[in-house]
Amino acid sequence: MKTYKVQSYEDLSKMAAGVVVEEIKENPQAVLGLATGSTPIGLYEQLIRDYQQGKVSFKNVKTFNLDEYVGIHRSHPQSYYQFMRKHLFQSVDLSKNHIHIPNGQAEDPKKECERYEQLLQSQGPVDLQVLGLGVNGHIGFNEPGTSFHSRTHVVQLADSTREANARFFNSKEEVPKQAITVGIENIMESRQIVLLAYGENKQEAINRLLEGEVSESFPASILTQHPNVTVIYG
Ligand code: F6R
Repeated sequence: MKTYKVQSYEDLSKMAAGVVVEEIKENPQAVLGLATGSTPIGLYEQLIRDYQQGKVSFKNVKTFNLDEYVGIHRSHPQSYYQFMRKHLFQSVDLSKNHIHIPNGQAEDPKKECERYEQLLQSQGPVDLQVLGLGVNGHIGFNEPGTSFHSRTHVVQLADSTREANARFFNSKEEVPKQAITVGIENIMESRQIVLLAYGENKQEAINRLLEGEVSESFPASILTQHPNVTVIYG
């Protein structure tokens, strides 16, 4: 695991964008695994700037998002579909049919997990997976206690996660109780992973990750067993 401590959020975003741009330059048909949340917003802003300056094209890139809330329509402003549209997709030349996000509105969320899993199998593996880090060590929406062998599944969101995400809704009650997420095994199948974490409230989780003890009670700890992980934090 390569680790980089940065001095500012801007540095984190620029360094992460550098990793993504390099990947796409090496492989213009790269499959990117993408995360939502506040941490990668600066990365996406930087990627948009790089695209506008002609430094990168997403024309042949495919994307797979990690997760989506269950029970809110993709037109809902807090759906991860809208998040990605707003922060990246609408501003770059990604082809619409290269964008993949679990459908949180599917009638049968379990079947939706199977569909997403098959799609990942047929178009993957992910070449570069971008991850944020939950304060409790979650990656994707794989909360503490999730099996390291998990694949795409429906999860009950931990109370702490709903609380952390309440800032995007009017109240915690409005935060969906379930989500669809790719599993830890899916994440570990990515060829390369870049994990981003920034801010006071992430320090404890970062310290625990860097300590290196591998345990399902701290999902991100499995990343220490992956051959190509870059952690950028500050
Ligand atoms: C988002 C995701 C989550 C977030 C994590 C950190 O798609 O899978 O694991 O990466 O909750 O969120 P922020 O960046 O908002 O602190």
